[in-house]
Amino acid sequence: MFARVIGTGSYLPEKVVTNDELARTVDTSDEWIRTRTGIRSRHFAAEGELASDLALPAARRALHAAGVNPADIDLIIVATTTPDIIFPSTACILQSKLGIAGCPAFDVQAVCSGFVYALTIADLFIRSGQARHVLVVGAEVYSRILDWNDRGTCVLFGDGAGAVVVAASDKPGILATKLHADGSHKDMLCVPGSVNGGKVSGSPFVQMDGGSVFKFAVRVFEEGANEVLKSAGLKVSDLDWFIPHQANIRIMEATARKLGLPKEKLIATVHHHGNTSAASIPLALDEAVKDGRVLPGQTLLLEGVGGGFTWGAVLLRW
Ligand code: ACO
Repeated sequence: MFARVIGTGSYLPEKVVTNDELARTVDTSDEWIRTRTGIRSRHFAAEGELASDLALPAARRALHAAGVNPADIDLIIVATTTPDIIFPSTACILQSKLGIAGCPAFDVQAVCSGFVYALTIADLFIRSGQARHVLVVGAEVYSRILDWNDRGTCVLFGDGAGAVVVAASDKPGILATKLHADGSHKDMLCVPGSVNGGKVSGSPFVQMDGGSVFKFAVRVFEEGANEVLKSAGLKVSDLDWFIPHQANIRIMEATARKLGLPKEKLIATVHHHGNTSAASIPLALDEAVKDGRVLPGQTLLLEGVGGGFTWGAVLLRW
């Protein structure tokens, strides 16, 4: 029994903010953001638009592409660091918005690695025979946790959601997965606030040590790629597409260079999405499926890295 991705979908909030527009209120420039990160614009959710509001159209589109009815979903996993509320989970809220009940639903909190974590869990549920159709969603509204006075972070992120339907199949599918975490780096990228007695204790905004994150991400992307390729008995030259977490084009290109992977095999959407954390991989995947780059039989490497620190890779056959 294998797990196969049989449909993708995504949703971006209507409002697009270019670097020049951001530079009207933040002490930055289009040139600085573009040359250091590749980002030209990002989408921001409207006032009151929550992660589940972005997740719902993305999920519906993935279900439609897969030809699966909401009633046939056996499990919902939402990867998010910006849930609608503290609880219930965004996955439960999404389940209710999809008009279904009964199947398990939970959130995965692994920051920018969330989608790769969630996809790995879906693979395990399917291969153990506990589910036949799993809805996996990455949905984020990072605009809610950005400090607009910190130009080193607020220019990097955007909002959006991407979704896939994973189904049981006798054909592979997901070929190999590997997850990691190292909590000793918890301060390198974090939102250190918490709710305490009705007040926020600590900062509720993203903080990061950009230089350290950069070096860490390139190192674990290279290691993670080699690890899953080895466990599937494949080589870098067997890859058709590399779809890493979309944090920064320089991180992605540096990784491709280290792996000896031609730049043409890198799928990058960071230019118009910014860093959408757990949503970035399914957003990029959906774009590449819809525009015809990803074709049946091809081999794809998805890789995430994010706060925790967490990282992981999923190798799959389309
Ligand atoms: N606009 C203009 N100037 C800025 C901005 C800005 N938005 N932000 C910082 N600067 C200034 C700094 O103040 C500094 O000025 P100084 O030299 O006068 O002190 C100068 O630019 C250089 O800053 P650096 O931090 O050295 O710039 P660097 O080239 O390292 O780029 C960046 C910073 C883009 C954040 C880089 O470190 C990076 O990409 N790191 C990876 C972080 C990342 O992608 N995080 C996303 C979340 S993590 C994840 O998803 C895994």
